[in-house]
Amino acid sequence: MILITGVAGFIGSHVAKRLLEEGHTIIGIDNINDYYNVKLKKDRLHFLQHNRFTFEQLEREDGERINELFTTYRPSIVIDLAAQAGVRYSLENPHAYINSNIVGFMNILEACQQHEIEHLIYASSSSVYGANTKMPFSVRDNVDHPVSLYAATKKANELMAHTYSHLYGLPSTGLRFFTVYGPWGRPDMALFRFTKAILEGKPIQVYNNGKMKRDFTYIDDIVEGIVRLIDHPPQGNLDWNGEKPDPGSSYAPYKLYNIGNNTPVKLMDFITAIEKKLGISAEKEYLPLQDGDVLATYADIEDLSEAVGYKPRTSIEDGVSKFIDWYKAYYKVE
Ligand SMILES: NC(=O)c1ccc[n+]([C@@H]2O[C@H](COP(=O)([O-])OP(=O)(O)OC[C@H]3O[C@@H](n4cnc5c(N)ncnc54)[C@H](O)[C@@H]3O)[C@@H](O)[C@H]2O)c1
Repeated sequence: MILITGVAGFIGSHVAKRLLEEGHTIIGIDNINDYYNVKLKKDRLHFLQHNRFTFEQLEREDGERINELFTTYRPSIVIDLAAQAGVRYSLENPHAYINSNIVGFMNILEACQQHEIEHLIYASSSSVYGANTKMPFSVRDNVDHPVSLYAATKKANELMAHTYSHLYGLPSTGLRFFTVYGPWGRPDMALFRFTKAILEGKPIQVYNNGKMKRDFTYIDDIVEGIVRLIDHPPQGNLDWNGEKPDPGSSYAPYKLYNIGNNTPVKLMDFITAIEKKLGISAEKEYLPLQDGDVLATYADIEDLSEAVGYKPRTSIEDGVSKFIDWYKAYYKVE
């Protein structure tokens, strides 16, 4: 039995679908919050209907119910993808991040420890690299300079996980996702917002005058990486040395991986791919860099390739095209 939190979310729903196809039994939880369109979350749950899928509407902050859930379903693997996501919203509503990402994650760790979970895989983020500019970003780099509270909560999650791996031997794998996109994607993210605005004949907002780069990663590549890791709980790294501590591993069963496309794309090229697929030229409103945003992201994925043969396969053109096909079908746009 695999527990997936945030199962009505973008990444969680895709992971659940793939694992159901592979014959696993899934218990999924989500609080179905209204950070973005609730109907989209419910429709994602709709495509997960299956006799091996159980859903419970539940909040990670509710430690008692989380504990009951573990007692009832006895999962052996936990894939923790629930969180308050989004960099920009963390400037408007910082408390939501502490509640969901810190208190919520704490309850998951406690339950994993008490119920002797075989492997906890949890979502971190490329945003932990914050003010770093050395590219590509490596899990061996120091990440002590976050530029948003969202990033700080994700880094805090990694620290909390290490403590549990050390104290209780809980095998934990933290995944730093790099700008995930694809069908059923999030309405607060660039691809969704741009596609919607262009189709409605509205201008798109281009931050930092377009001078940004993102390592956009297609959802199927992300799912492939997660699925391959399930049967690879980390062992302690025998070469780990406290004199020269490697931030990406530990003597304890703890590991961090970047999971990205390893190919940063200029924001303007990303927009061109959308325009080309839609056959419409976007009206652009150029704006300054937003607080909390970083100029570029670029994932070093060597560790993940070595561990499980991870290799992203989807080009930006193919991925954008698949998203737009889904968007038009879902919203019944010609
Ligand atoms: N999508 C990306 O590009 C990206 C990048 C980096 C990291 N991440 C991380 O990956 C994970 C999944 O992201 P996503 O894009 O699928 O986001 P999402 O918002 O679509 O999914 C998260 C889901 O978790 C649920 N949720 C939020 N707080 C909860 C709580 N306290 N208890 C129970 N459910 C709760 C939400 O209702 C939502 O359905 C998150 O941890 C996110 O921070 C995503």
